[in-house]
Amino acid sequence: MAKTIEEIDLAGKRVLVRVDFNVPLENGQITDNTRIVAALPTIEHIVGKGGKAILMSHLGRPKGERNMKYSLQPVAEELARLLNMPVSFASDCVGSEAETAVDFLSGGSVLLLENVRFHPGEEKNDATLAQSMARLGEVYVNDAFGTAHRAHASTAGVAAYVKPAVAGFLMQKELDFLGKQTANPEHPFVVILGGAKVSDKITVINRLLEKADTILIGGAMAYTFALAQGRSVGNSLSEPDKVEVARAALAKADERGVKFLLPVDNLMVDNLDFGTGTVGNTKVTPEGEDIPDGWEGVDIGPKSVALFTTAISSAKTILWNGPMGIFEIEACNKGTFAVANAVAENKEAISIVGGGDSVKAVKQAGIADKMTFISTGGGASLEFLEGKDLPGVTALDS
Ligand code: 3PG
Repeated sequence: MAKTIEEIDLAGKRVLVRVDFNVPLENGQITDNTRIVAALPTIEHIVGKGGKAILMSHLGRPKGERNMKYSLQPVAEELARLLNMPVSFASDCVGSEAETAVDFLSGGSVLLLENVRFHPGEEKNDATLAQSMARLGEVYVNDAFGTAHRAHASTAGVAAYVKPAVAGFLMQKELDFLGKQTANPEHPFVVILGGAKVSDKITVINRLLEKADTILIGGAMAYTFALAQGRSVGNSLSEPDKVEVARAALAKADERGVKFLLPVDNLMVDNLDFGTGTVGNTKVTPEGEDIPDGWEGVDIGPKSVALFTTAISSAKTILWNGPMGIFEIEACNKGTFAVANAVAENKEAISIVGGGDSVKAVKQAGIADKMTFISTGGGASLEFLEGKDLPGVTALDS
């Protein structure tokens, strides 16, 4: 267990906080501020205790070069608006520019440093860069769950040089929901997994087979499982080289008495253009029938929706990662949105949504506020659910 920010005296202290402000931007405008909003409790706590909040983050992948397309300046403005207080901005995350900005801070104020990935040493976890960052703070807080799977200078390296090094509120919440709640779930524990590839999710599937009562599989991943059952999937996206691992997972589910539910019908199309979001003819496979050649599965069908939503309605813990179909295209979004609504309607359950696409789907369906917890991590939540240690967490004081 990582030590937490609540255990630390912050008054008058320089508190260096790694946040994940890797937010989507279009023409310099933030299109989704969720990650900034999620970091507010930690920042407000520091400000409230009279600490000096010195925030650092990456944005995008500028590959160690200063590229203003990836500047955090727009984030400083959004943060000031959300906090309703001034936020100063330093155009570098280390060196004299950053050190002077820190010297000017008084207790209860906030400074955002420029993108840590403008330095090539960040992603290399360079010790000299980590030490330069460490000079800025007397306390280190990691609240960047979304980047905790990266062993970088600002997430892992720096924690060796600033003590105490502790977890922020968002980090704690993520570890609690994705960790504790899924390790010791209230039963029935229903896991909904979707997405394109079995290879991306197989470790998570195998791990959750130890804990879940029911696993629902959607997305193109389901077609690889269909192949494992000796069925045909027409032109659907699948991974023939993963049929054996899929078969082994089915056998493990059987052995452990876990209900492993695959779609019983599928929406299929004879043509699809992802770029324009258009599909050709659409049809639903009759229940139990294979997808014929020339057709491609793009969503779960209505019978599968009924099967899945019944399982979801009796759950006490729900974990959802990955969409049921190509939900970005309107003609193929019904399965994903029906699952989202079923999760929202089960008010008895703890519902945890992790992973970029399912989070996007939940937001598009307009039911984000009905979920118990939505993870801010994409890759990080998946690696954590796989049972991997996150370098950004293990570097903290325990
Ligand atoms: C994310 O968006 O998943 C995190 O911010 C990590 O970003 P990265 O994949 O570029 O390291």
